[in-house]
Amino acid sequence: MRGHCEGLPLVGNVVAFMRDPLGLVRRGHAARGGVFTIRIAHKRMTFLLGAAPHAAFFRATDEQLDQTEVYRFSVPVFGRGVVYDAPLPVRLQQFRLLSLSLRVNMLETYVPMMVGECVAFFDAWADDGEVELFEALSQLIILTASRCLMGREIRENLFGEVSRLIHDLDEGMQPLSVLAPYLPTPAHARRDAAREELRALYTPIIKARRAADAARAAGEAVPPSEDDMLQTLLESRYRDGRAMDDNEVVGMLVAALFAGQHTSSITSTWTGLELLRSPTQLAAALAEQDAVRASHGEELTYSSLGAMDVLHRAMKETLRMYPPLIFLLRKVLSPRPVGGYTIPVGDVAMVSTQVSGRLPELFDNPDVWDPERFAPGREEDRRAPFSYLGFGGGRHGCMGEGFAYLQVKTIWAVLLRTFELTAVGPLPLPDFGAMVVGPKGATTVRYRRRVPRATAGAA
Ligand code: HEM
Repeated sequence: MRGHCEGLPLVGNVVAFMRDPLGLVRRGHAARGGVFTIRIAHKRMTFLLGAAPHAAFFRATDEQLDQTEVYRFSVPVFGRGVVYDAPLPVRLQQFRLLSLSLRVNMLETYVPMMVGECVAFFDAWADDGEVELFEALSQLIILTASRCLMGREIRENLFGEVSRLIHDLDEGMQPLSVLAPYLPTPAHARRDAAREELRALYTPIIKARRAADAARAAGEAVPPSEDDMLQTLLESRYRDGRAMDDNEVVGMLVAALFAGQHTSSITSTWTGLELLRSPTQLAAALAEQDAVRASHGEELTYSSLGAMDVLHRAMKETLRMYPPLIFLLRKVLSPRPVGGYTIPVGDVAMVSTQVSGRLPELFDNPDVWDPERFAPGREEDRRAPFSYLGFGGGRHGCMGEGFAYLQVKTIWAVLLRTFELTAVGPLPLPDFGAMVVGPKGATTVRYRRRVPRATAGAA
C-alpha cells in the first residue's frame, strides 16, 4: 500500500472539469480505476468509484471525512448556529432531533396531508390538456412540504409570502455561492434579507405554539397540538435539556425543505417521464393500482402506499440513473486508506452518484431504465454494499428517504388513478449545469381525466 499522495493517479485540470465534470470523472475512471485524483486549481479532488471505494467514503467517521467545509455554502441559507455552522456534537444532535419528525409514526400522519394536497392540486387541472410536468410537480411539492414540515399556519395563511422568500433563498444558492458564499452580489443580498424575513415571519407563530404548549401542560382546554415537523422541533430537547431557540427551529425547517424540495420535484418528474414511456411498466403500475384498491380499499394510506412495489422500484431505478445530487463531498481530516492508496489530509474526497449509477461493474445494462432489476431475486441480491447510492449511505445517508418515497408514490398513485397520461416529445437530458440536477427543456405530458373531480367547484 502506498502511503503518500504521489501514489494517487493524477489527471485532468480546471478547464476540463468546468466544461465537462462528469466526462472527466468517467475518463479518469476508465484510465485509472476506482480511485484517482483530479487537481482543480489549487485543490486536489480524489474520486472514489465502485463498491469498495464507496464503502471507504461512507463508512468514515466525521473525524475522518468531514462535511463542515464542503457544505459551508449553505450557512447563509440555513442560518447561523445550525447544521454546518454548528459544532459537530451539536450538529449531530440537531440531525437526531430532525429525524424524530421523519419516523414512521410521523410519516403515517403526513400521508393524509400529502393526499389532500395532491387531490386539490390535480382537481384544479382541466379535463384534458398538456402540462409541463417539472414545473407542476415543483409547485405541488412545495405545497406538500409546507403542509407537513413548515406548519398549518404557513400553508393556510402565509404560503405566498413564504414561497417568495424560499425562491430568494434558492436564487442565493448558485454554483458561484459555493465558491464565494459571502460575495456581495444582489442575489446574496436578497438571500440574506429573505432568511431574516423568514425568521421574523415565524417568530409570532412559534410564540403562539409555545404558549399553547404551556397552556396544555398546565391542563387548560386548548386544541390538540399539530402533527408536523415544526411541532416536533418545538417539543424536542438537546441532551442537556435545552429546547431549540427560534432561530434554530427556523434553520432546521429550512434545511429540511432544501434537502427535499428540488430532489423530490426532480425525482417525481423523471419517474413519470420514464414510466409513461415504458408500456410494460405503465401497464404494471396501473394494474398495481387496481390490485391495491382491491386489497386496501380506495383510500391512500401509509400501508397502501407501502404495497406499491412497482412504483417503488420505478422511483428507485430513476434515482440510479438520474440522481439529483450528482456529487457528494467530504474534506479529508485524517489519512484515508483505500484501494492500495492513502488519500492525504486536505484532499476533497468525492463520490459521483451519477457516474457510479451507470458503472457496468455495478449494474447490468446500466443505461437502460429497468425497474425490474430491483425485483426480488434479481441483480440486487448479488450487489455489494454501497453499490446503489440513490440516497447516499452510511452515517449521513438521507434522513428523508421514507418521506420522499411516500411523497413521490402519492403523487403518482393519484395521477395514475385520475388521468390517462401520455409523454409528449423526446426524453429530456439532465441539466448538469444546475446545483441540483433535473431535466433540461420540455417535460410535456398530455392528460385526460378518467374520473370526475373529487372536490366541487374546481376549474
Ligand atoms: C442527505 C438524497 C429527500 C433530508 C441526503 C444525501 C443524499 C440525499 C444523496 C446524502 C448527502 C451526503 O452524503 O453528503 C435525497 C433525494 C431525495 C431526498 C434523492 C428525494 C428524492 C429528502 C427529504 C428530506 C431529506 C424529503 C427531509 C424532509 C436529508 C437530510 C440529509 C440528507 C437531513 C442529511 C443527513 C446527514 O447528513 O446526516 N439526501 N434526499 N432528504 N437528506 Fe435527502
